[in-house]
This record gives sequence, structure tokens and C-alpha cells, in this order.
Amino acid sequence: MLNKKVVLIGGGNMGHALLRGILKAGLTPPENFTVVDIHEGKLASLKEEFGVNTATDAAGVLAGAEVVILAVKPYTLNDVLDGLSDSVESGQLFISIVAGVKGGYICDRLGKDNPVVRCMPNIAATVDAAASAICACGSATSEHLEVSETILGAVGEVVRVEEQHMDAVTGLSGSGPAYIYMVIEALCDGGVKMGLPRDVAMKLATQTVVGAAQLVKESGEHPASLRDQVTTPGGTTIAAVHELEERGLRAMLISAVATATEQSRALNKETTGEEPSGD
Ligand SMILES: NC(=O)c1ccc[n+]([C@@H]2O[C@H](COP(=O)([O-])OP(=O)(O)OC[C@H]3O[C@@H](n4cnc5c(N)ncnc54)[C@H](OP(=O)(O)O)[C@@H]3O)[C@@H](O)[C@H]2O)c1
Repeated sequence: MLNKKVVLIGGGNMGHALLRGILKAGLTPPENFTVVDIHEGKLASLKEEFGVNTATDAAGVLAGAEVVILAVKPYTLNDVLDGLSDSVESGQLFISIVAGVKGGYICDRLGKDNPVVRCMPNIAATVDAAASAICACGSATSEHLEVSETILGAVGEVVRVEEQHMDAVTGLSGSGPAYIYMVIEALCDGGVKMGLPRDVAMKLATQTVVGAAQLVKESGEHPASLRDQVTTPGGTTIAAVHELEERGLRAMLISAVATATEQSRALNKETTGEEPSGD
């Protein structure tokens, strides 16, 4: 148990997922947790669901907080930081899940050399299956990384990376669930095209993706080796693999990750005014 006083700014999709995960893991009791959001209705329902404290203004609840989680959209971050600067205390750990925005910018804007840990979870946090990456920024130490790892670990798996890789993480695992939803939808449509009832096709498509991923994870084998094991010479699977290669499935996914990575770099520029460094 961390048992720290936590303030979560932004009680939306990701904020809700983190709040649920942290409380479910018993990392801190609800009375130590304050959610800040501009929507009173959202706050009332979070209070009812989790028994946490709520506020519409972060400045009034920062005193004594040990961890502040920033879970607002990039375009609202500057307003949030403007509102915090007078009440932030040095030593408060800021954990930012804001896409694209560099930790150093947040640290500079806070103005008190706070430790900042930049994180990129994904929407699977809502079912404790997130793929998250974290990196230390500003004065953050390995102790701050450990606290952040414990928090993000409550909703899935966590890897540590250098900040120069955070945009690529955003392009791969941050945005990745959307690519896989498209894959599931398309597999389902393929089944429907070939005569399967839609509910049956959806169940089979979804479990195929879950099962294939689970096998990669549990066997530790390279996906290409697993694929080779299921492609019988002259069989159905190799015929489909040929089709996928001809139509460029792998090249498409590689380009998708690269494009989303560039978009993450652009988000930093939009929010901070900094030119992309190309890292
Ligand atoms: N969703 C994902 O899959 C995902 C994955 C990884 C990282 N992220 C990052 O996580 C962050 C949050 O994403 P999300 O999907 O959870 O967004 P979201 O659902 O829009 O949640 C953000 C919440 O913060 C509220 N808010 C706006 N201004 C505020 C302010 N000044 N003070 C307090 N709260 C304020 C928003 O209200 P309004 O709705 O009125 O703006 C909303 O309720 C983003 O930076 C995103 O890049 C998201």
C-alpha cells in the first residue's frame, strides 16, 4: 500500500480507470483521494461510486498532496497548469498521462523543480490490461518511478523507457487499441461475408485476437515462429497470409505507428510551442 494523499485532475475515461484500479488494488484509501474535474455531475457520480473526495478547483486541494495525477486532454493542460502554479508544493510528484506533452515542460510550468513522471497507458486500463510506459522527468528519481510503476501497475503492465521513446509508445500502445478494434471488426465482417451470424463472428474474432496475444505472451516465442507453426503447406492459412502480405497488412501497421508517433510530437508543439526535436 502506498497510502499517499493523491489528487487526480481529470475524472474522464482514463482518470476513472486509474481511480478504479488504484482503489481496487488498495494502494490508498478513498478518503486520501481527491478527484478534480470541471463537471459537477461527473464528480458526484465518482463520489458515489468510490467514496472519494471531489473538487472543481485543483488549487484548493493541492495542499499536503503527495501525488498529483494529470489526466486531462492536452488542449486543457495549460489552463490546468496556470491554475496550479500558486499552490503547488515542491516535492509533490506529478504523474502525467497527457499525450505528447514532455515532462520537462510540465516541470518548468510548475516552477518548483517538481519530480514529474510522464506515462502513457492505454484504454485497456479500464479492464486492468493496460500496456503502459513511464519515464522520469525533472527531478524524478527511481523512487518516484517506483511509485508511478505501482500506480500504473494497478491497471496493467508497465515498462520503463527513456523520454525520447514516449511518442513512439503513444503511436504503438497508446493508440494501438484502436488499430486492434479495426482488426477485430474486419475479421468479424469477413466471417459475416462468408455466412456466419454476426454475434458468432464477433465472438470468434475477439477470442482469436485475445488467444493469439495470450499465446505470444505466455510462450515468449516470436510471432513469426508461431505463425509458421500454424501454416500447413498448401493449406488455408498460408493462402490467407499470402493475401495479407500482398495487400500490405504489416506495412500498413508499421506506417500507422509511425504516423501516430508524429502526431504525438505535433501535440507537444501545439501545447508547449516547442519545435519537435525528432527524438
Ligand atoms: N483515452 C485514451 O485511450 C488515452 C490513452 C492514453 C493516454 N490518454 C491521455 O489521457 C488524458 C485524458 O484522456 P481521457 O480520454 O481520459 O480524456 P477525458 O475523458 O476527456 O477526461 C478528461 C476530463 O477532464 C475534464 N477537464 C477539462 N478541463 C479540466 C480542468 N481545467 N480541470 C479539471 N478537469 C478538466 C474533462 O472535461 P471536458 O470533457 O469538459 O473537457 C474530462 O472530464 C489525455 O491527455 C489523453 O491524451 C488517453
